[in-house]
Amino acid sequence: MNVYDGQRIAAMLTARGMNQTNDVSKADVIILNTCAVRAKATDKVFSALGRIRNEKKPDALFGIVGCVAREAGADAFRRIPELNFVLGPQSYHKLPEILDNPDTKLLNIDLGGLEKFDELPQMEKSPAVAYIPIQEGCNHCCTYCIVPYTRGREISRPFEDVVKDVIHASKTGAIEICFLGQNVNGYKYTDKAGKIYRLSDLIKEAAKLDAIKRIRFTSSYPTEMTDDLIDIFGTEPKLLPFLNMPIQSGSQNVLTRMNRPYALDLYIDIVDKLKRTRSDIQISSDFIVGFPGETDEDFEKTIDIAKRIKYINSYSFKYSPRPHTAAALMPNQIPENIKAKRLAILDSYLNELQRDFNQSCIGKILTCLYEGPDKTGKHLVYRTPYMQQCITDAIDDNVSSIAKIEITAANKASLRGKILK
Ligand code: 5AD
Ligand code: SF4
Repeated sequence: MNVYDGQRIAAMLTARGMNQTNDVSKADVIILNTCAVRAKATDKVFSALGRIRNEKKPDALFGIVGCVAREAGADAFRRIPELNFVLGPQSYHKLPEILDNPDTKLLNIDLGGLEKFDELPQMEKSPAVAYIPIQEGCNHCCTYCIVPYTRGREISRPFEDVVKDVIHASKTGAIEICFLGQNVNGYKYTDKAGKIYRLSDLIKEAAKLDAIKRIRFTSSYPTEMTDDLIDIFGTEPKLLPFLNMPIQSGSQNVLTRMNRPYALDLYIDIVDKLKRTRSDIQISSDFIVGFPGETDEDFEKTIDIAKRIKYINSYSFKYSPRPHTAAALMPNQIPENIKAKRLAILDSYLNELQRDFNQSCIGKILTCLYEGPDKTGKHLVYRTPYMQQCITDAIDDNVSSIAKIEITAANKASLRGKILK
């Protein structure tokens, strides 16, 4: 979502005649797009702000957008008085106001719903992977999560608006569509005639476009994997056989305290159903270790479920207490050293699962999306249907955006392959 927000901000400024630079000392406008999901990310923002204020041109406009802006609010100006603007994740379309009035200070952390989507200009050229947000915010209120506070209550974009974005992306260079949302499979839009549209309808619509070869979506909430969505994995070949469906913990007690009230058996049933629908489907997850009150036994259950599902590519985090969340106030907070130990153990299992899956791909032919040359220019980098990086030799200048690649070698981080002509 932040990559998408960053692209839209860049497009908005480019449309005003600006060019992008990564050199802080040359920039006229400096924007930090920020994530508040864990404390470490927030801390990094403020140390970066401290560094930038010394490096920037004295009259350069300087500000933060995104979830840290929403979380810190006016306090950001107190901590870094040089800041010119602080704009939340649903108000960054207000950026032109400060560009037109550079002598003022701009604070807007309102939850404006879908307003930004109407006000932002379309990107002239789409990247090969077009991120298309279909809903914002989240109603799940997991007790550890700051997102319902920073991005607000869940709201789905009108079906026709999303379709318009997909068509525009397909006409301007997109090969892959990635539908985005904090709770993407909760997408539900009712039109004026009372017709209800779900994520499966969006997938069907995108699949009709010839230019679009691959479709995926992220991130899914387990109990919102409705049958229409599961079924479409069996009927729509453009939908990639890969799904990020975070479980967070393998302990029923911890899940209850996280306010993720699904039975583990139900989660396993959903995975089994998906595998029956499409046998080559693979699942990835997010995990949190060291949630308040997590015992060694609870943690063991997380390892067990990871091995049971055989996740292929996961993200794992130490629990980080966040403002405005219930879990931050829970008793039995876990000491940092125990969190670190559990994370290292979980990561070693997850890495093993990833390596096993990568090695199981050797000899297979995978249809991959071209990303670009590597740094040396001697190799090409592709992305497999499972989001693995696959490296091939650069054989000629005729690089097509989609290629069939025979996988010849694998390690934990990436695959090697040979393009089939
Ligand atoms: N501490 C650690 N990890 C968190 N996540 C969300 N909130 C927290 C937190 N307070 C993780 C979850 C989520 C991912 C985007 O970030 O695993 O799925
Ligand atoms: Fe946060 Fe995801 Fe839970 Fe929503 S479902 S509250 S975004 S962790």
